[in-house]
Amino acid sequence: MVTILGRNKNNRRFISVRWKLVSTYLLLIVVSLIIINVFISQTILNIYLNQEKLEYLTEANTLSNRLKYYMMPSKTLNLVDYIGPIIEPRSQKIDSRIIVVDKNNIVIEDSNSAHIGQEFKHSEINDALKGKNVHGLYNFKKLGHVLYTAVPIKLDNEIVGAVLISASINSVYEELAQINNKLILISVTSIIFIALLSFIFASYLSSPIERFTRIISQISQDKLNQRIKMDTNDEFKKMADSFNIMLNKLDQVDKQRKDFVANVSHELRTPLSSMKLLSESLIHQEESNIDIYKEFLKDINSEVNRLNNIIDDLLYLVDLDKEKLTLNYGTTYINFLLERIVTRLQPLAKEKSIDLELKLKEKVQISIDSDKIQQSIINIIHNAIKYTPKEGQVKVSLYTKGKNAIIEIKDNGIGIDKESLSHVFDRFYRVDKARARNTGGTGLGLSIAYQIVSLHQGTIKVESEVGEGSTFYIMLPTDIGID
Ligand SMILES: Nc1ncnc2c1ncn2[C@@H]1O[C@H](COP(=O)(O)OP(=O)(O)OP(=O)(O)O)[C@@H](O)[C@H]1O
Ligand SMILES: [Mg+2]
Repeated sequence: MVTILGRNKNNRRFISVRWKLVSTYLLLIVVSLIIINVFISQTILNIYLNQEKLEYLTEANTLSNRLKYYMMPSKTLNLVDYIGPIIEPRSQKIDSRIIVVDKNNIVIEDSNSAHIGQEFKHSEINDALKGKNVHGLYNFKKLGHVLYTAVPIKLDNEIVGAVLISASINSVYEELAQINNKLILISVTSIIFIALLSFIFASYLSSPIERFTRIISQISQDKLNQRIKMDTNDEFKKMADSFNIMLNKLDQVDKQRKDFVANVSHELRTPLSSMKLLSESLIHQEESNIDIYKEFLKDINSEVNRLNNIIDDLLYLVDLDKEKLTLNYGTTYINFLLERIVTRLQPLAKEKSIDLELKLKEKVQISIDSDKIQQSIINIIHNAIKYTPKEGQVKVSLYTKGKNAIIEIKDNGIGIDKESLSHVFDRFYRVDKARARNTGGTGLGLSIAYQIVSLHQGTIKVESEVGEGSTFYIMLPTDIGID
C-alpha cells in the first residue's frame, strides 16, 4: 500500500517505511525469479538440444557406416540405385531430410530429390568432408528451428563422402514454451503471495515506528508525561527504553525549570514588596521625624542588599552552568586553603562566641580550581556558623579516604530534619523559611557549593540530627585535573 502524506518542505514525496520495505522485497523477488527462470529455461533447452544432437549424430554415423562400402570409386556409377533404398525409409522414419554427397561435394542422394547431381555447398557438409562431426542450429522464417548434423563417410581412413541430416526441432521449442508458461504462472503466483506476506510483515515492522511518531508528536504538544510501551524484545524495545529515560530527564528538567522560575519570581518579589511597603509608609508619614525616616531607609537598604545578593548568586550559578569546561585547574594544598578560609571566618564565629576549630590530619595536595572550591567551602562553614547557636562548636578537618580528599565540617547546631535533608542542595530550599528571613539566607549557598564540587567530579554528603548538629563531607577525587 502506498502511503502518500503530501509533500514536505524539500518538495520530496513522503514514502512510508512500509511501502519502502514492500517494494524492496518485491524488487528482490522479481529480480531473483527472473534470473532463476532464465537459468532453468536455458538449462532445459540445452538438455533437449543435446539429446537431439546425440540422436541425430548416432543416426548419421549409422548411415555413414552402412554407406561407406557403396562409396568405393569403382561403384560410383550405380550409387543412387543402392543408396536410395537405404536413405528413403530412414528419412521417413526419423521425419528428416537426408542428403549424401561424395567426396567432391556432389549430391548422390537427397531424400527430397531436390539437389541430386548438383554440387552442394554447405558449411556443415564442408566441415564433414574435412573429417569433422558437426551440428548447426538454424531458425528459418518458414521452417522454424532446424538442426543440421553432418558426418564424414570414411573408408579405410579415407573420406569418400558425407551424410547430412536436416531435422526440424520445433517440437523442442514448443515444449520449452509450455515449460516457460508454467514457470511464469508459478512466478506470478509467488510474487502475489510474497507481496501479501511482505505487506503484513512490513506493517508489523513499521507499526512501532508509527507508534513512536504518534507519541513524539503528542510530546511536542507539551505532554512530557507520555511514555512509550513496547511489548517486543528487540531494538524497538531498546529504543523505547532509551527514549523513556530521555523523557524522564526532560520531564525532570522541565519541572526544575518551572520550579526555578517560580522560586526566582517569589524570591525577587519578597524584598520588592517590603521595599514598596516601607517606602509607601514613608510617603504617607505625616510627621517628618528624621529618626523614623532613617530607620525605614535602613530597612529598605537591607532589602536592596538582599536583592543584590540573590541576583549575584543567581548570576554565579548561571556562570557555573556555562563554565563546565573552563575550570581553572591548579595544584593546591587544601591545608593552606582551609587555614586561609578559617582565618577569614574566625571574626564571624567570634561574634557568636563559636569555637571554630581546624584539624589538619594530613597534607593533601590536589589539582582544583581553588577560587571555586574556596567559595563552596566558605558556603558550608558559613552555614555551620549561621545555624549553630551561640557558644557552639564548628570543627573543620581534612583527611584522605581511598582516592578521595575529604573536608569534613561538623557543627553542634540546630540540625536538619530527615525530610529536608534530601532537599538542602536544591536551589532556594530553606528548612525554616521564617527564620531564614532573619538570617538573610537565599537558599542558594548549598546548591552553588554542590555545583562547584560536581564540576570537579566530586560530591557532597550530609548527615544530621535535629538538635544535635550536622556534618557536611566535601569529597574530591585526588586524581582530578590530571591528564
Ligand atoms: N549546618 C547547617 N545546620 C542546619 N541547617 C543547615 C545547615 N546548613 C544548611 N542548612 C539548611 O539548609 C538550607 C539551605 O542552605 P543554603 O546554604 O543553600 O541556604 P541559606 O544558608 O539559607 O542561604 P544562602 O544562600 O545565603 O547560603 C538552609 O536554609 C538551612 O535551613
Ligand atoms: Mg548558606
